[in-house]
Amino acid sequence: MNDQVRDQLKRPLRDLRISITDRCNFRCRYCMPEEIFGANYSFLPSDKILSFEEIERLSSIFVSLGVKKLRITGGEPLLRRDIAVLIEMLSSIDGVEDIAMTTNGSLLKKHAKALAKAGLSRVSISLDSLNEERFLAMNGNRGKVKSVLEGIEKASEAGLQVKINMVVKKGVNEQDIIPMARYFKERNHPLRFIEYMDVGNSNGWRLDDVISKKEILHQVNSFSPIEPLAPNYEGEVATRYRYVEGGEEIGVISSVTDSFCSSCTRARISAEGKLYTCLFASDGTDLRHLLRSGLSDDEIAESIRNVWQHRSDRYSDERTSGTSSERQSKVEMSHIGG
Ligand code: GTP
Ligand code: 5AD
Ligand code: SF4
Ligand code: SF4
Repeated sequence: MNDQVRDQLKRPLRDLRISITDRCNFRCRYCMPEEIFGANYSFLPSDKILSFEEIERLSSIFVSLGVKKLRITGGEPLLRRDIAVLIEMLSSIDGVEDIAMTTNGSLLKKHAKALAKAGLSRVSISLDSLNEERFLAMNGNRGKVKSVLEGIEKASEAGLQVKINMVVKKGVNEQDIIPMARYFKERNHPLRFIEYMDVGNSNGWRLDDVISKKEILHQVNSFSPIEPLAPNYEGEVATRYRYVEGGEEIGVISSVTDSFCSSCTRARISAEGKLYTCLFASDGTDLRHLLRSGLSDDEIAESIRNVWQHRSDRYSDERTSGTSSERQSKVEMSHIGG
């Protein structure tokens, strides 16, 4: 790697994503295919998962290193009991400016109010189709469109900012791009189209299955013309657009055809407390061991700083051929969070 690229990668650490469980009540084909994550799959036992107190401690340490935004992910984070208690603990950390959650929305109807009261600001809700049959086929027959839409409504009523994430896969749900765009334009919720990615080793990814940002924008434009918007913040993952008529927002997350590694400021912690500096990493740094071995906050902060300073991840920039990289093992999305 040349010096220029290395300098580009010396990015501040601003955004921490915390997976609080590797379990999910869905089995999306692009993330947790049933054949692999079926009845015999070994999910993490509870003693291997960070406790709320450990998550709070780690979050404060990350805040001391410059993190301002926390995002709670999974698996499905709402499967973890007493989740509002965790949000309350995190929202009282000095220096935390924003707490968001990525969820499949199926349990949001029940939890939205308590989460908002506890200090959650935003939710990104995954929904890949408005067609019940196609949605069921994509999520392994687990989730109904109706319950996700109810969750979205409750979240919005509770005062949470809502974004919708739609993974687009060729031959599976590209016909849903325009119906989804129309539905969420009418309700003024930003919809983000996500290029299908080669995360993990189990989804059988092929470049041929990707619908590109260009094709997505073409379809949305044919529904209603859009124009580009400036990023909300440096390093924003989604490229944003607004409808010329109405001004509602959409976004595209194009990690395959238009990668954005040079502005990546995100660190990830898995439910078992490993620190990953890239969504496509093979392994992470065991922070749980550090937390449980009597080290001070300063000592743990120093270890994290060291890992971050030496990171040189740019997986999406380097992805080249039509198949997923030669890398043998990549962490699963359900383990590391979205
Ligand atoms: P905000 O801008 O804070 O709303 O967050 P976000 O857009 O990053 O939100 P979200 O967590 O919903 O991210 C949406 C999706 O983008 C994730 O589920 C991933 O599929 C993808 N994504 C997020 N961060 C990265 C990243 O660092 N690299 C890659 N390749 N994909 C990412
Ligand atoms: N490609 C793109 N996005 C994915 N997600 C999960 N697996 C993939 C994949 N293979 C996204 C989901 C959800 C978040 C948890 O991660 O859409 O928004
Ligand atoms: Fe669960 Fe989200 Fe993965 Fe789907 S994408 S299986 S909802 S963690
Ligand atoms: Fe960051 Fe890795 Fe995604 Fe590139 S591929 S943006 S380095 S997480």
